[in-house]
Amino acid sequence: MLIAQISDPHVVEPGRKACDVVPTSENLAQLVSCLNKLDPLPDVALITGDITHDGTSAQVAEARRLLDPLKMPYHVIPGNHDDRETLGHGFAGQTCPSQDEQFLHYVIEDYDIRLIGLDSTKPGTPGGEICQERAYWLSSVLNEAPEQPTVLFMHHPPAKFGVLETDLDGFAGADILGQVVERFPCVERILCGHIHLTAHTQWRGTVVSTAPSGSGMRLALDLTLKKPSGFHLANPDFQLHHRTADGGLVTHQVEVRENDKLYLF
Ligand SMILES: [Fe+2]
Ligand SMILES: [Fe+2]
Repeated sequence: MLIAQISDPHVVEPGRKACDVVPTSENLAQLVSCLNKLDPLPDVALITGDITHDGTSAQVAEARRLLDPLKMPYHVIPGNHDDRETLGHGFAGQTCPSQDEQFLHYVIEDYDIRLIGLDSTKPGTPGGEICQERAYWLSSVLNEAPEQPTVLFMHHPPAKFGVLETDLDGFAGADILGQVVERFPCVERILCGHIHLTAHTQWRGTVVSTAPSGSGMRLALDLTLKKPSGFHLANPDFQLHHRTADGGLVTHQVEVRENDKLYLF
């Protein structure tokens, strides 16, 4: 099984640039075109939040226009830059099959690996949250198939990564989520975004990993936690999570580049 992960495309209205400098539509279109040319083609793509920059319905429509050409099924969950309701409405159907009235969370049962999308947003704040209600929902769906390899995907990483966006913005209820996760060894990975960097850490018996931004906004790494938060303009990247022949879930990063000439050894 091959899972593609696109995170944080931060799409704005056509003709605009995010933060006045990032051509988000152009970058996401290039990324989708690159993904569609892969051999083998991923089975599914997961879009881990901050799909829009400001959460408006015009930005959701633009994101949908750019993502719909993906040749594989794709699924979205919200980030702190999205509006839960607008996103859920704009991507209603198989791309966001949430049945919950309050949160955008759901289970995809179509593959060898069970995919569980979680809503880690806390409206009005940049940080993450898993409340008792969401933890209870997660626990009950994990209980339905506790032996099946499972991947959780959500926007905010619940562990501290040593950067302002996790350590200062915080994650309310990280311990509540951790108590659920450590009861289910079937959770092989928690795929996140939010920090616009590639990173991973062990956490509560599993691995939490973060994907880079599909917009090309690469966070300026500051482990002092003292400098003003900023980003570099980079090429957009995405990740591939590949179930290998010996059962490992291996992550590769793909940078989207024009004129990417191949030199043979
Ligand atoms: Fe983001
Ligand atoms: Fe975010």
